[in-house]
Amino acid sequence: MSFEGGEGAGKSTQIRLLAEALRARGHTVVTTREPGGSPGAEALRHVLLSGAAEPFGVRMEALLFAAARADHLDCVIRPALGRGEIVLCDRFVDSSRVYQGVTGNIEPPLMAALERVSIGSSMPDVTLVLDLPAEVGLQRARRRAGESAEGAAPDRFEKEKLEIHEKRRQGFLDIAGREPERCRVVDASLDKDRIARDILSEVLLVIAQVSGIERAGGQAAHS
Ligand code: TYD
Repeated sequence: MSFEGGEGAGKSTQIRLLAEALRARGHTVVTTREPGGSPGAEALRHVLLSGAAEPFGVRMEALLFAAARADHLDCVIRPALGRGEIVLCDRFVDSSRVYQGVTGNIEPPLMAALERVSIGSSMPDVTLVLDLPAEVGLQRARRRAGESAEGAAPDRFEKEKLEIHEKRRQGFLDIAGREPERCRVVDASLDKDRIARDILSEVLLVIAQVSGIERAGGQAAHS
């Protein structure tokens, strides 16, 4: 399962709350994030978020995001799914589609090729799109950055203009519109406990569906 959305949409809070609720129901849950999540991908995360890869251009950044994703899938996600665990991932392939594809203006055939080599057919069972007006999300992200010493300097992607963030919001909504079976749009401006309740009920439905398919002879798992 993946969580997507712009800066300040509350993904990490919701992942934490969902993980707690699922563990309380007896599930084994792995929480992870992109870019990163495995040692190799974390090294690439540093290269990407520090801006060190920026001079090489958006295509090179897209390649590195894809390479990080492939490693993360191989080293962390697929093994966990193979053990029957639930994986909650903070950002996944839709972030590349939106940040590199939509606002990075990378041509769709290259994006499709990167997706093929990085994930193959490993799509999440469900993707929660936390939707928020870009301005509200940015204000929240800035407040958070101001509050924590570690996050004091916005990363290279947070610095970009409001207009770009609005385009990204629309990009996630467009994906959700095109893939309604996989994506659920969540109003991220609501109270966090209310959002958590809504997400949990959606996710429990998906788990029941996936378990039904597995019992009927389908393959693993709750990605
Ligand atoms: P992070 O600090 O994890 O941001 P957030 O709290 O917003 O999730 O930084 C990840 C940044 O990397 C974020 O600005 C989005 C960007 N990103 C991409 O551009 N492409 C990708 O494929 C992924 C996974 C992230």
